[in-house]
This record gives sequence, structure tokens and C-alpha cells, in this order.
Amino acid sequence: MVAAKKVVLAYSGGVDTSICIPYLKNIYGVSEVIAYIADLGQGDDLNIVKQKALDSGASEAFIGNLVESFIENYAYPAIRANALYLGKYPLSTALARPLIAENLVATARSCDAMAVAHGCTGKGNDQVRFDLAINALGPDLEIITPAREWKMSREEAISYGEKFGIPAPVSKKSPYSIDVNLLGRSVEAGYLEDPMRPPSDDVFEMTASIQEAPDISEEVEIEFKNGYPIKFGGENLKSIELIKSANILAGKHGFGRIDMIEDRVVGIKSREIYETPGLLLLIKAHKELESITLSPEVIDFKEFIEKKWSQLVYQGFWFGPLKEALDSFIESTQKNVNGIVKIRLHKGNAIIVGRNSSNNSLYREDLATYSHDDSFNHENAKGFIYMWGMANKIWAESSLKDSK
Ligand code: ARG
Repeated sequence: MVAAKKVVLAYSGGVDTSICIPYLKNIYGVSEVIAYIADLGQGDDLNIVKQKALDSGASEAFIGNLVESFIENYAYPAIRANALYLGKYPLSTALARPLIAENLVATARSCDAMAVAHGCTGKGNDQVRFDLAINALGPDLEIITPAREWKMSREEAISYGEKFGIPAPVSKKSPYSIDVNLLGRSVEAGYLEDPMRPPSDDVFEMTASIQEAPDISEEVEIEFKNGYPIKFGGENLKSIELIKSANILAGKHGFGRIDMIEDRVVGIKSREIYETPGLLLLIKAHKELESITLSPEVIDFKEFIEKKWSQLVYQGFWFGPLKEALDSFIESTQKNVNGIVKIRLHKGNAIIVGRNSSNNSLYREDLATYSHDDSFNHENAKGFIYMWGMANKIWAESSLKDSK
């Protein structure tokens, strides 16, 4: 294979992406590896990661601060879509991939590279998301994926790296495979691969256990404008601060843990543990606000759109014609999603206890009330039900005739 001379590599600082650097040069004949490091709020010291890329043989290393874009252009649309893959997973890892891909392509353009590379293996979803997004944004770019080809175990990968001066991971090796960003943590591997074995406490970092969570509940109000969260706990907050506050409060009360079996794109069922406290809380609140501001037909139809939207994003089609069309549908539903939701957090629960929209509420207390009847004429119900049930009555009468 004739590989391009200059390659932009998605670089995380882990063993696999580090050995990609000498591997690309030695096996693929690449002359220059440019490391691209995405800051998604994962909390690592990215200057150390950058130095590691250079020490591993990268000719240049860039840190992209993507946190704000991640929240505003990826997490917020997911909240408006009430996005939960298989009804459970709010896509915290999946959402990051098209954003990284977008920036890999942009870096390739600015560095005049004809190829991009990533260290994903052939078993996961992330390779699919990267490849599809890169193909959509830079169809002329070659995509090089060493980890799909090298067939090295982790131990072999570490000793391969040591030959090229890449130090073995110093921190005591975690038994898990973990992906972290500002939206949450995805944890798998190790004993978690036995789907019957409960996760132990060391899996979690953002959320308290039910035992540790405070005995006293806490209420919070979340305000939305056009389906976007704008206030948390009465405070106007910018996107990053808002997500952080939601993570802290929900995490403190042990809300936001998910233990599930999911269906990967490549046909494998896998067990994953997630903690996504803030994002789950915001989706829950947003969906509640829609219940009072959207018409029943829109709510019903939107659920179908939401399911499809979540599948598309999970399966790597962030940049695609159907996702774009569904975005337009969602956009048109959100102009009235304005108001406040009140949630009580307690011992792993987030319980909705109130919702209000001062300008867009479709709830009419004068109609809903059982106390007085000023605006409702009960007699109209009779004619309505006569016609509403006419076809059903005809069916029942004919079935009765049949059974005689
Ligand atoms: N299963 C999740 C997804 O496909 C997370 C993948 C990364 N997880 C990990 N533990 N490394 O979105």
C-alpha cells in the first residue's frame, strides 16, 4: 500500500494511539505524523499528552479546544432530540466522534495532508463513526487505521512502543476501558464483560452510590428557551458551566448511572456502564417541558423521530441526509419549548415535581379543573363520542351478528 506522506492522527495519549506513530512511519512509510488532540473536557493535562505525542515521534501536535462546540453543537441538539439509544444511552461518547472527525479533516486541510488516521479497533462503534464522518467531510482523504490491522495484544503493543521509546503506562493499569468527556464516562472490559456481574464502586467517578448520596433531597429548576437549557438552579449559565453544574448536582445525588447491553453497529452485543448525570437530567427535564408545550400529535410523532435520530448518531451518520432532515423537523418543534421544569433529586432518583411555560403552555387549568365548569360544555361530549366511536360500534354489532 502506498500511504500518503503526511498523516493527521487522532491522538489521545493512550498506548494504542501512541504506538500508531512509529507504526505509521515504519509499516506505512509515512514521513510525517501530525498528532491532533481533542479537548472535550476529559480533564487530562493535555500539554502532557502533547509532549507524549512529540516524544513518540510526531512532527507536530495540536490541541483543539472543542469543549464549547461539543456542548453547543452536539450535546444541545441531543437534548432537543431527547436522544437515548435503545431508550437508555444518551450518546455521550458517540456525539464526540463526528466533532473530532470534523477537526481531523480541517487539520489535514490546513497542513496539506492527504490522509488521516485513528487508533480504533475493528470491534467497536467509534471506527464506524470516524470513518463515516471523515468520508462525508473529506471524501478524498485516505483513512489509515493501524489498530484494525496490527493484531497486537496489549502487552505486545506496549513492548512494541518501548522499542521506540514510548514508555509503558505509568499509572497502575485500570482494569477497564474508559472513555471520558464533559458529558460523562463510558466504562467497559475486564470483569464487566460478564453481564451478570454488578459493577463495583471503582467504576464510578461522577456519581455517588445510593448509600453515599445525601439523605435529604434537593430541588432544582431548569429553564429552557427554544429547547435549549439556559438556566440551572435559577442562574443564567453558559453551556459549559450549565453542564458542569448539572453533572455536579445530579452526580451528588447518585442520578445518571446506566448499566446496559447495547447493540453495536458491527453486530456485537456489549455490556457498558455509563455515568452521564447532567445530560440525562437535562434530557429528562426537556422531555417534560415538551409535554406541556407541544401538541399531542407532535409529541407522538417526535418520539419516532427521536428514536431514529439516536440510532443514526450511534451508528455514525451524524453527517448524512436523513439526520439533516430530522434536524429540520426537530428545529421546527422547538420554538415553543420555553419554560421551567422543577426536579427533586434524591438517592439515585430525579423526580419531576413541576413544569411551567408562561407563554407556550397548552395546559389550561380552567379546562382541566374538576372544581368549576365555566369554559367547558359537558353536553358536547355526547355528540363527539357518538361519532368518535361510530366505526367501532358498527364493528361490534357485526361481530355480534356473526357469532349468532
Ligand atoms: N459503547 C459506547 C459507544 O459506542 C462507548 C464506546 C467507548 N467505550 C469505552 N469504554 N471505551 O458509544
